[in-house]
Amino acid sequence: MAHPFLDADIADLVQKLRIDEKISLLGAPNWWNTTAIERLKIPPVRMSDGPNGVRGSSHFVAIPAQCLPCSTSLAATFDTELIYDAGIFLAQEAKIKSSVILLAPTCNIQRSPLGGRAFESFSEDPHLSGMMASAYVNGLQSEGVAATIKHFVANDQEHERTAADSVMSDRALREIYLYPFMLAQKHAQPWAYMTSYGRVRGLHCSENRQLLQGILRNEWDFDGIVISDWFGTYGVDEAINAGLDLEMPGPPRWRTQPLVSHCLTSQKVLPRVIDERVTTLLRFVQHQARRNPDVVYGDGKERSRDSPEARTFCRKLAADGIVLLKNQGHLLPLSAENVKHLAIIGPNAKSSVISGGGSAQLKATYVVTPYAGITAGAPSDVVVDYEVGCYAHKYLPTLEANLETSTSESGWLCTFYSCDEQGKLTEPIADFILRDTRVKLNDFLPAGLSSTWMIKLTGKLTMDKTGPYDLGLTVAGRAKLWVNGKLAIDNWTKQTPGDFFYGQGTIEEKATLDFEAGVGVDILVEYINTSPPKNGDEEDDMRSSQPALMRGVRLGGCERIDPDKAIDSAVSLASKVDAVVFFGGLTPEWESEGFDRPTLQLPGRQDEIITRIAEVNPNVIVCIQAGSAVSMPWADKVGGLLQSWYSGNEAGNAIADIVFGKVNPSGRLPLTLPVRLEDVPSFLNRHSEYGKIHYREDLFVGYKHYQAVGIQAQFPFGFGLSYTEFSMSNLSLSAATDVDVKVSVDVKNVGNKAGSQVVQLYVSYPDIGITQPPFQLRGFAKARNILPGSTRTVQISLNKYAFSFWDPSVNSWRVSVGKYGLHVGSSSEQLDFKVIVTVKKGFLWNGL
Ligand code: BGC
Repeated sequence: MAHPFLDADIADLVQKLRIDEKISLLGAPNWWNTTAIERLKIPPVRMSDGPNGVRGSSHFVAIPAQCLPCSTSLAATFDTELIYDAGIFLAQEAKIKSSVILLAPTCNIQRSPLGGRAFESFSEDPHLSGMMASAYVNGLQSEGVAATIKHFVANDQEHERTAADSVMSDRALREIYLYPFMLAQKHAQPWAYMTSYGRVRGLHCSENRQLLQGILRNEWDFDGIVISDWFGTYGVDEAINAGLDLEMPGPPRWRTQPLVSHCLTSQKVLPRVIDERVTTLLRFVQHQARRNPDVVYGDGKERSRDSPEARTFCRKLAADGIVLLKNQGHLLPLSAENVKHLAIIGPNAKSSVISGGGSAQLKATYVVTPYAGITAGAPSDVVVDYEVGCYAHKYLPTLEANLETSTSESGWLCTFYSCDEQGKLTEPIADFILRDTRVKLNDFLPAGLSSTWMIKLTGKLTMDKTGPYDLGLTVAGRAKLWVNGKLAIDNWTKQTPGDFFYGQGTIEEKATLDFEAGVGVDILVEYINTSPPKNGDEEDDMRSSQPALMRGVRLGGCERIDPDKAIDSAVSLASKVDAVVFFGGLTPEWESEGFDRPTLQLPGRQDEIITRIAEVNPNVIVCIQAGSAVSMPWADKVGGLLQSWYSGNEAGNAIADIVFGKVNPSGRLPLTLPVRLEDVPSFLNRHSEYGKIHYREDLFVGYKHYQAVGIQAQFPFGFGLSYTEFSMSNLSLSAATDVDVKVSVDVKNVGNKAGSQVVQLYVSYPDIGITQPPFQLRGFAKARNILPGSTRTVQISLNKYAFSFWDPSVNSWRVSVGKYGLHVGSSSEQLDFKVIVTVKKGFLWNGL
């Protein structure tokens, strides 16, 4: 028997829909689902963030998920097959969260390492980004889960992200910023796109007909749906006419019955255009329902998986992204022969730094900290000691591990109340046990709340040491912290704006309290969903205050340390041991949404402590956890250096696998690590000024700039060491006069450990009087697991993309006549071979 929706003819269905139903389909009922029309058996389909795991449909009571490495780490593998497998893994994770759409991958360009979401994007290089995105999308969609490639286009920094106009040349737009999307469209055809918050050419991307219709649909033949970023729809008719199919999240601000009806009556939007958008949307929903009937017509529940296979995969994925930057005198890998007494030092050692912040963050099923990974991975006769050395958090660490409810469950109790017109609380409406002291309330509220409401969070907080602790309360809305019935922090009456909650919250207000080891104190956090009155009246007046746009509260805390003594203790420990592993870097609160990082410098006193421990011990290995670049003024003083990114919940095990040589490092840098901020190409134009971000570095993003102007990087793009050595030989070309060429090269392992090498191919263009970067990555291949003494032949195929540039005078890609250099080597600065391809017949092309 025909299924009422799966077998329906979409054109028929659109005819049967009433106008109010069509309008409701172009918006959403809530944060994560499309609209269902029960009368016509149209089901809702669910979406979820993305990109380093599948969080599920609630920030509030999150069902734990596997946390994969961030995108810079994925790109550092330079391994498209592995990233394809990561796509498959994510599709499985999506389905167990009853989702058939993943809001990923993020495919913007790391124009500056300071970009708040640089960790979420793959690379500074458009070819590497596009190939990684293609592999990710192909893996995901091979299992029927739709990718929503984002953010289309130029969400390359967070400053004034919903307003700023990215001002750039046609060439930069095409050759750098659209390029990864174009490659993904060519090689993987994502089924959905998400628009950027900001503007391009003066028009918001969600209203930008040239981008959505002109480039995406007409030039690239895209036939899936385009959805807005969350609250990134800014009007009714412009967005519908430009080609935006779905406003997210719901309930809609713009696609309401009165507003859309008004646009129809005034003929600002024509019924034909509404039908086009509805048709596209329903076609997409039908495809997703056909591909995943068990999920779309399933029980809607969200589940977690934590299997040995999943753990093994995440561990391998994480280890393969780690980049070995320095290894003086073969200090690494550590073994029982070279180390008897090991010190672990640093602010990240015992912290759960597994991903960047914002919408990419999720509650992990479990976390292996670096400390846990190293202690578990160290040979049994190695003695391991620990000192924190310094703190480097932006907000005090969350406290869920130290909280219990009155019924002795782990976490704290969250009770909801409505407020009546006088501001009096009703009877409790609902309660939940939360295992997180970072409480986000945007995508979930219990039924039956009035427009002003309150929560009370209660629990017993127990610390493991006697002494003073700092507690901190940050809020979007208003909040107070009470400890044992006494007001400890007031972030309610008077507030100082900060960048908490996508830039919509306050700074962290702090208090210091004495704790006795093992003795619990009663904690109460009161939160209300309003902002303080703006009229300067600081009275606790619920009636004159406004509902907060973002809603959330965060309680943090940690032992108060004497910073000088902490450093001294770490230095003293370092002076007594055979080797030190220092774990530092950033945290999800330094790299997140809604703001950019102010500096490349490591937070806290990390630079100072690394320098000091390196003075007393030659065997210091620094492991940096960060999604992008940090400055390393101590780089020449330490013996070993690892860039381990945010590597997901297997972080500690993956790092230990590298440190103890279970895995031979094979990651390569997907971005340049600069010496100084001033060297970064976008340094002079990184902020939005008067609403515009000027991309004045143009084509010279990342290594292209460093090479063109001769600036030495701290570590160049594509760089990474191994525990073995490789040689390359026999570079050969399939044809020397065509753009469709195959390049092959032999890679020999000339060291004594099995290992993997990344062969990189950069193209230099003929001088025809047009500006071109000196070298552009156009191909790469990973030769995996070559045994000592063995040789592997690696092949890289090139096509017209490798020889083209955008010619704005004819609005086309151009391949010009001339001699192109193909440079092959192991990093952007280690190009050992060159062959020439002579293109005899130039041509123009459009499309893909
Ligand atoms: C982010 C998107 C994300 C969305 C939903 C926005 O803040 O920019 O990347 O998918 O939220 O969480």
